[in-house]
Amino acid sequence: MIKTVKTAPYQDQKPGTSGLRKKVPVFSQENYAENFIQSIFDSLEGFQGKTLVIGGDGRYYNREVIQKAIKMAAAAGFGKVMVGQGGILSTPAASNIIRKYKAFGGIVLSASHNPGGPTEDFGIKYNIGNGGPAPEKITDAIFARTKVIDAYRIADVPDLNLDQLGSFDVAGMTVEVIDPVADYAELMEQLFDFGAIRTLLAGGVRIAIDSMGAVTGPYAKEIFEKRLGAPEGSVRNFTPLPDFGGHHPDPNLVHAKDLYDDVMSADGPDFGAASDGDGDRNMIVGKGMFVTPSDSLAIIAANATVAPGYSKGIAGIARSMPTSAAADRVAEKLGIGMYETPTGWKFFGNLLDAGKATVCGEESFGTGSDHVREKDGLWAVLFWLNIMAARKESVAEIVTKHWAEYGRNYYSRHDYEEVDTEAANALVAALREKLASLPGQSFGALKVAAADDFAYHDPVDGSVSKNQGVRVLFEGGSRVVFRLSGTGTSGATIRVYVERYEPDPAKHGIETQAALADLIAVANEISELKTRTGRDKPTVIT
Ligand code: G6P
Ligand code: ZN
Repeated sequence: MIKTVKTAPYQDQKPGTSGLRKKVPVFSQENYAENFIQSIFDSLEGFQGKTLVIGGDGRYYNREVIQKAIKMAAAAGFGKVMVGQGGILSTPAASNIIRKYKAFGGIVLSASHNPGGPTEDFGIKYNIGNGGPAPEKITDAIFARTKVIDAYRIADVPDLNLDQLGSFDVAGMTVEVIDPVADYAELMEQLFDFGAIRTLLAGGVRIAIDSMGAVTGPYAKEIFEKRLGAPEGSVRNFTPLPDFGGHHPDPNLVHAKDLYDDVMSADGPDFGAASDGDGDRNMIVGKGMFVTPSDSLAIIAANATVAPGYSKGIAGIARSMPTSAAADRVAEKLGIGMYETPTGWKFFGNLLDAGKATVCGEESFGTGSDHVREKDGLWAVLFWLNIMAARKESVAEIVTKHWAEYGRNYYSRHDYEEVDTEAANALVAALREKLASLPGQSFGALKVAAADDFAYHDPVDGSVSKNQGVRVLFEGGSRVVFRLSGTGTSGATIRVYVERYEPDPAKHGIETQAALADLIAVANEISELKTRTGRDKPTVIT
């Protein structure tokens, strides 16, 4: 029943910030997915007879690759595969299943917030037994293997019916098709005060949850409408579609603009939230107030004890380097640890496992905690509702009071997408050249205090990750950061992160881009962005 198939290696299967991501036509080349999956298995040890979790965000090509992965897991010697019904598991739900059932690891099929469809994106990511993305040591080994692989093994059996719940035999291995929502919803009930949130919603606070045609639909329906009693229709775009209904399932001010406009309208809902393709990202908006992901992290951390799952307090906070320093002020006040990591959720894994950090967040619309080892979109939404219920305040009140207490970190990210790769690399190289000469230089009223290329020293395993982004820090706490995205699939994306700290509450009402205008101009000047890329404005501003 098990056959060995000869194959030729591909040289482009290097996992990025979050697994291997390519366009579907690349993934559907002969043996492309098989090569990568076999390379994952070839890079692991000790999984014989153990459990592998498999699930994806339902995007185009999901079912095909799941069938291959199941048959290859059987051939590799796993004892059991747990797969979400219909091939569905949100990324945080997959992380929970891996942890809860003590699986050896999991394969998560997603390209996150990137569009789906026959010519759009697909992705494969391997998660380890703690439920989190594999660390670089493993992804490096997988990549090395993909470059030399010459055969893969697969069970020669018919496709499994993924839509039927239950246990099935696939070439001597058990496959359990599970309800993708139940375990996750149960975990959320343990962490948050569902009674208080139910009262909040029954009291007339109207919510709109946009699943953007992607994986969180069934989760959101179950949690917000069924368990929390929000009126039917509170969850929108809730059917996971292979092309996300043509949406770009990225919860930000550009792609979730409809929801934003709705919440901002006079008779629209009081609270809005959106999640991405695989359910790990979130956007939070309240009437009159968009919450930046960096502020969201800080506010969740500052109010964490209102949620039953965090009532004993949090041990520490972690954020990625480009994320604003808003959370740092909360950590300082609470007297707890603050950790600054490179971009990529995988860097939080060690801190969470070691109990150094309890909550983590990234500017890229990701927030989460030690309840799983992925960021978790609906978790963040529930946390906000729990805070609103406990404080009996609106989003806008909570945010403005937070700023008044801690100061406001004005923050924005400017993305230049699909830039010529050579031009982007040259821009970063030129910035690195300049680092030593920047400190002490003044640009208008802004004086450079320090500049470096961020390197992370993992305090748990001692590993060092270099070249994680160029930072220019100004006196007074403002800064600009430059990095190249590690998640794109065509050309290069230059990200410019701009932050200004403003302690004075009288100056907390400025429009964000206006508040940051001087810094944005300096960022362009230092990086020569316009001349080097030929772009006169960013593609996306968040
Ligand atoms: C994914 C990762 C995040 C990361 C984000 C942006 O969502 O899970 O950890 O922050 O991508 O990464 P990028 O390299 O594109 O800036
Ligand atoms: Zn995602």
